[in-house]
Amino acid sequence: MTMSSLIPTFEPGKVLVAPSILSADFSNLGQALHCLETAGADWVHVDVMDGMFVPNLTLGPPVIKALRPHSKLPFDVHLMIEKPDRYLEDFRDAGADMLTVHAEACIHLHRVLTEIRRLGCKAGVALNPSTPVCMLENVLEQLDMVLIMSVNPGFGGQSFIPHSLEKLAQMKAMIGNRPIHIQVDGGISPQNAEIVRAAGANVLVAGSAVFKSSDIPGTIAALRG
Ligand code: DX5
Ligand code: ZN
Repeated sequence: MTMSSLIPTFEPGKVLVAPSILSADFSNLGQALHCLETAGADWVHVDVMDGMFVPNLTLGPPVIKALRPHSKLPFDVHLMIEKPDRYLEDFRDAGADMLTVHAEACIHLHRVLTEIRRLGCKAGVALNPSTPVCMLENVLEQLDMVLIMSVNPGFGGQSFIPHSLEKLAQMKAMIGNRPIHIQVDGGISPQNAEIVRAAGANVLVAGSAVFKSSDIPGTIAALRG
């Protein structure tokens, strides 16, 4: 199956908001997607967990495929799974636009990123809080997005780790003027949105801050700034 990614190329100065459906009502995900679209979200962040790379299980390609007709927004799929190369094509066929793998989960990261682009998706790499940004020095040309994890992956609703701000700034310096998105994920809310944007993040993921809000459009606008 061939398809083109809905994810736009990085644009300097443009901030995007990618709510995570991990914190949505899992019995009504189609409705959550309609809500995000009308509330002004830019992308839908989908957290895939395998119970091995992280101590939690969520969803896989069949659920993403079932959700695809319910939204026109790009699907930004965060793979918190071991050896993600086994499933890249399945996630592409299910409707993923961005596939983000963890550097810690890929022995042959360059090959995995090349394969993601060959499949027609945008390629992202996530770094756990303990992984230094220098891990990505040799794959910058293969990347469309870097995801700086600001919590240890596995669960929604955790507290933002302040050291992530330094990592965002280091990543921005390393990227220079390359068209690479910098995403931040974990503990993001309207309270810390401004400091993560100032540190260099241009794509803000938020799960609980969006879905626990009584004013989802207002929260998304506040995250965007
Ligand atoms: C954590 C996930 C996040 C999570 C964020 O492992 O990658 O995307 O949904 O949730 P909050 O915004 O509640 O920290
Ligand atoms: Zn995530």
